[in-house]
Amino acid sequence: MSELKNDTFLKALMRQPTDYTPVWMMRQAGRYLPEYRESRKTAGSFLQLCKNAQFATDVTLQPLDRYPLLDSAILFSDILTVPDAMGLGLYFEEGEGPKFERTLQLEVDIQKLEVPDMAKLQYVFDAVSSIRKALNGRVPLIGFSGSPWTLATYMVEGKGGTDFLTTKKMAYARPDLLHHILETTAQTVIQYLNAQIAAGAQAVMIFDSWGGALSHDAYIEFSLNYMQKIVAGLTKTNDGRKVPSVVFTKGGALWLEAQAEIGADALGLDWAVDIGQARQRVGDKVALQGNLDPAILLSTPEAIEEQVENVLRSYGHGHGHVFNLGHGITQWTPPENAAAMLDAVRKHSQQYHK
Ligand code: CP3
Repeated sequence: MSELKNDTFLKALMRQPTDYTPVWMMRQAGRYLPEYRESRKTAGSFLQLCKNAQFATDVTLQPLDRYPLLDSAILFSDILTVPDAMGLGLYFEEGEGPKFERTLQLEVDIQKLEVPDMAKLQYVFDAVSSIRKALNGRVPLIGFSGSPWTLATYMVEGKGGTDFLTTKKMAYARPDLLHHILETTAQTVIQYLNAQIAAGAQAVMIFDSWGGALSHDAYIEFSLNYMQKIVAGLTKTNDGRKVPSVVFTKGGALWLEAQAEIGADALGLDWAVDIGQARQRVGDKVALQGNLDPAILLSTPEAIEEQVENVLRSYGHGHGHVFNLGHGITQWTPPENAAAMLDAVRKHSQQYHK
């Protein structure tokens, strides 16, 4: 493998010194980029982009080619490839988001759930190898997965939701069934992430997009405990380098202290929390990644610069901060506004690393 030319992102995740605050954007390859929309048209669909290693490579590199200040690439794929491989039948309806042909609601179906053969996800590992080759050491590549709780909400509900009532009902009425889904999914995610690492992923991130919908006790029992299990099962070094892990619970800042104990190297933050206060709460246990409200990128370059300065100032002096959005970039973001954010991070962060 070619030598890594920019390891600022990996260093920050391990709270090592860097000259500036590294930055990447959740969903940095996506519909706000005209070149992405063009590729999706050529491929025929979003899933075709994911399932073809050449398309996945092309779109992963699009934001890096456009924005030289990005410090990391993220595998172009989706968290829902895992429930698809577990037999649920993923499909997308134009304008409606992801759906599944089958759901996990009946006990007979849930008892049949198994860790799938990783060969079903070979297309993801092929994409990782192909992207690493194309990056040629430019920046590190992040691999990722959904958290068991977040994946379970899709498998139980059959689609994305806002209240997750069927899944929550199961949590309280038949916790044994939900635990079976979560345990099987956690074992799957361990194999899935370790195969991404073996194929060349240099850091991994667990997206717990819907953990914030849970009560305190339920979050610990149904989401955090399974992410802890996954982190414990991850390959820790590959190719002579540590492979750092990031855990991100959207809406999860209430539980930062508990998250900081599960063994991950870094925690993702959404925009609701003040990052300086978050830093005080976790101390030197973990690095922090975040947390600009993606809606700010709909405003003006001047407003964006000011808000970037606020996040950097709040985190303050020292290392261990990876700048990011608090959630995925929206499809209505003018691409030049993303550039304004990246410029501002580079311009204003250096003073905090002296
Ligand atoms: O960050 C990146 O650039 C890497 C690619 C990536 C995608 N999805 C591509 C995608 C990543 C890391 C994800 C993760 C993902 N997928 C999450 C966790 C992060 C989060 O946003 O909370 C979730 C919940 C999903 C499930 C999912 N996939 C939804 C709800 C949707 C529809 C909503 C939407 O934004 O359209 C998707 C589709 C999806 N995944 C798109 C992309 C670029 C849009 C597909 C398109 O081109 O129409």
